[in-house]
Amino acid sequence: MNVKKIIIGSDHAGYDLKTVLIEYLKENHYKVEDIGCFSKESVDYPIIAKKLAGKVIQGEDKKGILICGTGIGMNITANKTKGIRAVVCSDTTSAKYSRLHNDSNVLCLGARIVGEYLAKDICDIWLKTSFEGDRHLRRVTLIEN
Ligand code: RB5
Repeated sequence: MNVKKIIIGSDHAGYDLKTVLIEYLKENHYKVEDIGCFSKESVDYPIIAKKLAGKVIQGEDKKGILICGTGIGMNITANKTKGIRAVVCSDTTSAKYSRLHNDSNVLCLGARIVGEYLAKDICDIWLKTSFEGDRHLRRVTLIEN
């Protein structure tokens, strides 16, 4: 995968981790579009997840990162948008295989589940791993159809 532009969003529970990850991604030469939220004031995560999902399916090879308390609400919501393959990951192996086998295009993280260092490692491997295609392409196509 050769993505250099990342769209990122969070609710209030994910706000602090999002701030850390934006800085980290920028340091690693990614262009980051932050779609909110923009403070720690309470916000409903489905609004952010739907907004991000809509942007990710608009362009080719677009990727997004969503952060809430557990990653779960963002994940459930993002997957309602056709073409989105969102995964919630708390370990690097799941992040790696979600790219290799599932061509995941949205990564969901739980700020109350993973620490900053692990979140950075998960992002790293998820962004650097390419889809394997081949038999996995057939399966991913079956998801969509
Ligand atoms: C907010 O308290 C929390 O419910 C939300 O961040 C998320 O964890 C939902 O899945």
